[in-house]
Order: sequence, then structure tokens, then C-alpha cells
Amino acid sequence: MSAGVVTATRAVFLAERPSGEPQARHFEVRELPLPERTAGQLLVRNIFMSVDPSTRGRLGTSNMQYTTNIEVGSPLDGSALGVVLEGTDEVPAGSHVRHRLGWREHAVIDTSAATVIDPRGIDLHHWLGILGQTGFTAYCGLQRAGEIRTGDTVFVSAAAGAVGSAAGQFARLLGATRVVGSAGGPDKAALLRDRFGFDVGIDYRARPIGAALRDAAPDGIDLYFDNVGGDHLVAALSALRQQGRVALCGMISNGGPDSPPLDRLIEVILKRITVRGFIVRDHEDLRGEFEDRVAGWLAAGEIVAESTIHEGLDNAARAFVSMLGGGNVGKMLVRVS
Ligand SMILES: NC(=O)c1ccc[n+]([C@@H]2O[C@H](COP(=O)([O-])OP(=O)(O)OC[C@H]3O[C@@H](n4cnc5c(N)ncnc54)[C@H](OP(=O)(O)O)[C@@H]3O)[C@@H](O)[C@H]2O)c1
Repeated sequence: MSAGVVTATRAVFLAERPSGEPQARHFEVRELPLPERTAGQLLVRNIFMSVDPSTRGRLGTSNMQYTTNIEVGSPLDGSALGVVLEGTDEVPAGSHVRHRLGWREHAVIDTSAATVIDPRGIDLHHWLGILGQTGFTAYCGLQRAGEIRTGDTVFVSAAAGAVGSAAGQFARLLGATRVVGSAGGPDKAALLRDRFGFDVGIDYRARPIGAALRDAAPDGIDLYFDNVGGDHLVAALSALRQQGRVALCGMISNGGPDSPPLDRLIEVILKRITVRGFIVRDHEDLRGEFEDRVAGWLAAGEIVAESTIHEGLDNAARAFVSMLGGGNVGKMLVRVS
């Protein structure tokens, strides 16, 4: 299709609001007319789109505070990386840009809402993963919320996932001496040790996380990077040493029905623990430092970046549901075109 005739795009819409866990039937792919591009706007063909747990919260009606809910009958959005088909002087055709209008094949976006990517010879999809918001989340969480220190024993949950696999590897390079991770299933637990360099990989489905963490870090932990919440957070509060730190990144377990109540908060007082939540976008001042360091680590083979890539927009909803159920290793992406 030549650039000049792109007047509509296929996009994923919310067909029905899920009452429990999202399923593929709650979404549908259909055509969305594109607005006419004005001066200062870009027409972009998306190549990859990011699949993110935060989308689940946006499908409900509760106030997420830091983002917006998606209305039934509306197209979804989220991080994407594409190539500019029609550009501006500032961002010419052929540039690669990262932006927020994912879940569709084409998008018209303001130049100010696009970040031009210089791939530096690194595979494009990594700029949505370990070199994108995912890796940046791990980096900010460790540095800013977790205040990682040399000699720390660090525990990371959802550690075979996108943020977690980055956080575990970065933690080591930022000074941790022992890094423990948890993930669902024996294969992922083995991958934590063999592929991502964790000292211990816990399979949280095999035994209660509290006991497993006590065995993995008998002297306790200094920093917990929390992607899960619920039972993992309770276990980590027990395992934390005096003056320990918690970087609250996400709570994918959503305080599910089996979650213990957070009465362990007394530990925060008794052990003078610092618990700090963070949102990645508040830390843009670290972006340049992050990209330089992580691109260097990747080029030098000091870290590995795994991705699980589903093909085609028609499979985007299935990729999302699969990711929530643990069907990914590393960053979950959809190759849109
Ligand atoms: N604060 C921020 O600015 C920010 C930014 C981006 C992401 N996040 C958060 O970071 C976390 C990780 O995001 P991601 O994009 O890297 O996703 P991800 O970890 O690649 O994928 C989600 C993983 O969560 C695990 N999971 C699902 N249900 C679980 C449960 N009940 N208990 C334990 N683990 C469960 C699954 O792995 P298993 O097979 O191991 O269960 C799944 O692979 C999420 O909580 C997300 O909301 C926060």
C-alpha cells in the first residue's frame, strides 16, 4: 500500500468489558478511519507493539490514577514502534519512532508525541523491550525506588518476564552480590539461573514463596523489586533485613483470591523498611544514561534480552491473554507488520 492511500487502519477494539480475567473474545479487530495528517504530524506504519500488564487495569472502570480507562467500542492503545511513511522536516519518512498508538497497523501522530529511535545496530524490537520502557522500568525501579547498593541481596518477582529479567540482570551489574528470582514453573525457574544469571530461580508454583525465599536467602534480602504483590510481597516483607527497601513496580497477582492480607506491614515498622512505588514516566531524566549503559551492556554480551513475539494484529489479544497467564519469557511483543 503506498503511503498516500492510507486513510484507515485495522485496529484492536474493546468489544466487551471483561468481568473477570480478560479473554480474547472481549476484543475485536476492525477498521478505524485515520484522521487526515496535518503539518507537524506523522503517518506511521507500526512494526512492533508492546503487550503490557497495565492494559488489564485499563479494561475496568476503576480509577487507575496514572492512566485512562478504555471505553467499550474504542480502540486500544499502548507502546509501539514503527516506521514513518509520511514525515516532517524534523522526522522524515524512513525514521523509526516509538509512540503510544499501538494495537493498530497505522497511526497518525503528532511529532511531539513520537520519540525518534536510533537503533545503533541493535535489533529494532529491543527498543520496545530491554532498551524501551520495559528496561527503563527495571532501571528506574532499582536506582530510584530501590536505591540499589553494592553488596545488596536482591529479590525480583515475575523474574522471567520483561521487567523482571531486566531487573535481575541490571541488579547484578549495579552492585548486587546475590540475586534471587521467582517465576511460574520449573522451566522458567531453570531459565532464571541458566539464561539470566540469577543465583537462585524459585518456582513459586512448586512451593509457598515464603519458605522458598527463606531457603534462597537464609540471611535475608536487602531489596525487593516487586512485580507481583500479594503473597510475594508478604514473603518479601518477612525476608527483608533491617533498613530493607521495596521498589513497588507492579502487582500482577492483583491481590487474587488466594492472596494473604497485608498484615505483614508491621514488618515495615519493626525493620525500618522503605517501601516506594514508582511510575517509570516520572524518571525521564535518567533516559539517556539508561540507554547508553544498557546498549553498552547488550553489545558487550553482559546481559541477554529475551522476547516472545506473536505474529499479526489478529493475534494481539491472544498474546495479551497469554502474557497474563505467564505465556511469555522476556518481553511480549506482537509483530504488526
Ligand atoms: N511502575 C511502572 O512504571 C511499571 C511500568 C511497566 C510495567 N510495570 C509492572 O511491571 C510488572 C511486569 O510487567 P512486564 O511488562 O514485565 O510483564 P511480564 O512480567 O513480562 O509478564 C507478566 C508475568 O507476570 C507473571 N504473573 C502473572 N500472574 C501472576 C501471579 N498471580 N503471580 C505471580 N506472577 C504472575 C507471569 O509470569 P509467571 O509465568 O512467572 O507467572 C507473566 O509472564 C507488572 O506488574 C507491570 O504492571 C510497572
